[in-house]
Formats: sequence, C-alpha cells, structure tokens
Amino acid sequence: AIDSNFEVNRERAGEEDGVAVWGPVEPPEKQGIRGTHVAVDFDICLADGACLEDCPVDVFEWVDTPGHPESERKANPADEDQCIDCMLCVDVCPVDAIDVDPG
Ligand code: SF4
Ligand code: F3S
Repeated sequence: AIDSNFEVNRERAGEEDGVAVWGPVEPPEKQGIRGTHVAVDFDICLADGACLEDCPVDVFEWVDTPGHPESERKANPADEDQCIDCMLCVDVCPVDAIDVDPG
C-alpha cells in the first residue's frame, strides 16, 4: 500500500504536469508517488481504472508509463485541487495505491 507518511519519508523530486513528484524516481521502472492532497503511488498502481470511473469530480487522468513493470499507464491526480474528500478512490483501488489527506 502507499505510505501515507510519504511527505516525511520521501523527497520531493520535482513536478510533472503540475503534479508533485515524490522520489525516488528512476524511469521507466521507478515512477514515485504523484500528487500531494491526492497522492497515487505509481509504482503500485496497476491501471485498474476504478478511481477514474468513480471520482465524482474527475480528479484523475491517464498518463503513459511505458516500460513500468506494473502497468504502462497510471492514474495521475491532475486535478487534485478539485477533490471533495469523498474517499471513494481510496476505497475502490484494489491495490491501495491512493492516499487522500483531508484537512
Ligand atoms: Fe475524487 Fe473523492 Fe478521491 Fe477526492 S477522495 S480524488 S473527490 S474520489
Ligand atoms: Fe491505479 Fe488504483 Fe486507480 S490501480 S488506476 S490507482 S484504482
């Protein structure tokens, strides 16, 4: 599962498409955690897609990650600022790749 203390345990490695990247990042095998309020561990995400389908405010969008061992696309929390903290995505992700931090 995603480490909910990633902001303490990882270093911010930069930003991609307006979304924070938390390392370590070594593409294509290691993609890190993306986002802050809504965070997705790209190294755990296997492109199930439930988060994209169920999020009521369309926070997520697919990004391609060719060569990643789990899946070749990931759910990027591109519109995390829109999140209403319903926690649906956290509940539906089959591999617990998502952390939402209300407040
Ligand atoms: Fe979308 Fe709800 Fe997840 Fe926020 S907590 S990203 S609103 S599904
Ligand atoms: Fe990935 Fe989980 Fe969404 S596997 S696509 S973060 S439901």
